[in-house]
Amino acid sequence: MKVAILSDEKIMASVAADTVEAVCTANPHAVLGLATGSSPLALYRELIERHRAGRIDFAQSRSFNLDEYVGLPAGHPESYIEFIRRNFTDLVDLPAAEVHVPEGNASDPHAAAAAYDRAIRDADGIDIQVLGIGSDGHIGFNEPGGSLASRTHVGFLTEQTRRDNARFFDGDVEKVPTHCITQGLGTIMESRHAVLLATGENKAEAVHQLVEGGISARWPATVLQSHPDLLVVLDEAAASQLELADFYREVWSEETRTR
Ligand code: GLP
Repeated sequence: MKVAILSDEKIMASVAADTVEAVCTANPHAVLGLATGSSPLALYRELIERHRAGRIDFAQSRSFNLDEYVGLPAGHPESYIEFIRRNFTDLVDLPAAEVHVPEGNASDPHAAAAAYDRAIRDADGIDIQVLGIGSDGHIGFNEPGGSLASRTHVGFLTEQTRRDNARFFDGDVEKVPTHCITQGLGTIMESRHAVLLATGENKAEAVHQLVEGGISARWPATVLQSHPDLLVVLDEAAASQLELADFYREVWSEETRTR
């Protein structure tokens, strides 16, 4: 795991975009794993700019989102399919038919989850996975207490996650769906490269656990400590509970000096 503690969102986006660009340049057929939420928005803006500048193209890529709410009507603006189209995939040259999101309004969500996991495997897995982190330590929608080896499945959202996400539903927690389909932790762990972004004080404890805690289902993101190639990109507030922050800064500055 590499940890980059950076001064502002623009620099964070640029560092994260460098990782995505490197993967896509090495492999124009790269399979992208995409996240929703506010954390990756600046990264998506940066990738769109680089695409427009001719530095990166997605014409031969495919994407698989991490998760989707269960039960939102098709076209709901807060569904994750609409989110990713609006904020990224419709704004680059990724073919619309190659943008995959779990089918949250399938008549059998469990079957849809299993089919989604198979589709990722059939695509030969995810080359670069973009991640955010929930304040309770979830990645995708893998809430505390689940299996660290889980595959794509139907999950139940914690009260805290529903409260955190109520801001997208007129501030009304009752409007936030209770269930989701999410890639499992085992699915996410098979990605070849991953970049996780976190900003703000309310992520500080989850980030501390992710980087420095013991691996446990209580903090699902801790499973990423065994990921073969993870870059964690943080602002100062999200890094504020890291015990070894100064050491990570030193390592990162050495890393960037020798690049
Ligand atoms: C949601 C998503 C996650 C995301 C997390 C953090 O619940 N399912 O994939 O990482 O929330 O969201 P944000 O980046 O808005 O803080």
